[in-house]
Amino acid sequence: MKILPSEITSYTNYLNRRKFIKSSIATAGFLGFSGGLEANHNSNQDVYNDQLDENDFLNSYEDITTYNNFYEFGMGKSDPYKNSGNFKPKPWSIKLEGLINNPQDIDLEKLLQKVTIEDRVYRLRCVEAWSMVIPWQGFPLSELIKIADPLSSAKFIQFVTVFRPDEMPGQKKRLLSWPYVEGLRMDEATHPLTILSTGLYGHDLLNQSGAPIRLVVPWKYGFKSIKSISSIRFVDKQPEATWSMMAPSEYGFYSNVNNLVDHPRWSQGTERRIGEFKRRKTLPFNGYEEEVSYLYKGMDLRKYY
Ligand code: MTE
Repeated sequence: MKILPSEITSYTNYLNRRKFIKSSIATAGFLGFSGGLEANHNSNQDVYNDQLDENDFLNSYEDITTYNNFYEFGMGKSDPYKNSGNFKPKPWSIKLEGLINNPQDIDLEKLLQKVTIEDRVYRLRCVEAWSMVIPWQGFPLSELIKIADPLSSAKFIQFVTVFRPDEMPGQKKRLLSWPYVEGLRMDEATHPLTILSTGLYGHDLLNQSGAPIRLVVPWKYGFKSIKSISSIRFVDKQPEATWSMMAPSEYGFYSNVNNLVDHPRWSQGTERRIGEFKRRKTLPFNGYEEEVSYLYKGMDLRKYY
């Protein structure tokens, strides 16, 4: 999908524009800044953006939307940007199924009327040792979990990406086993940092970023953040996840960013921030240790990598 030069925004411009958008919301009563999908917008959520420090600069809209991993559109970093033009993210619904009181196919437009869209600026750290800082718009996954109303036997959640080989050329090849699936433990899924994102930089997600809705779990390697989600299953056992099924010794179910546990083929001690030359140190839990380490108390994170 084409990106206009005017959309390549610096952080300062972005923040100024966000201020402008907020004030136009206040004066004109304008809702739904994130394009056509309307939702309420909460202007009071900077609390979840505090983990960044003065060395974290927002990546440009261009970086974030032209350097991607989305194997449904091919294996190269620019394939998702180049090959996703035929993908149709609208209309969209998500199937909620499994151990819940309210199984249903929920229409995305209707879901977005029930939740509050927030800004969350998060680091994204790929297991391939590159990283970015991305200003997402989204809502806590816990809000959707409340709608599903899980039974007490639901201990994990599995997410499934849509399977549409006619729109996703990579799915015609056996690059991975399709559809792409991922999973979280229930307490990880309900953690306030875990969001479902529908936009970034104030625009609806482009196809290459996982339109129209994707997971973002900032303390885990990027592959946990599954794109273009069409089903969410509530289950009692640890579910299958695409990369850990394919190479269990390389990719664990938890996949918390861990600078002390190397991948068999590359070190996880440092990373390259896209747009920078000098490598920087990788932080435990990608810098979110204070917020999430309690989830893993007593667990040997070398064993549960
Ligand atoms: N989701 C699906 N369905 N298919 C994929 O290939 N790639 C993952 C993740 N989500 C992937 C996916 C990987 S490896 C990473 S690093 C992130 O998406 C990349 O997200 P980004 O392209 O928005 O940076």
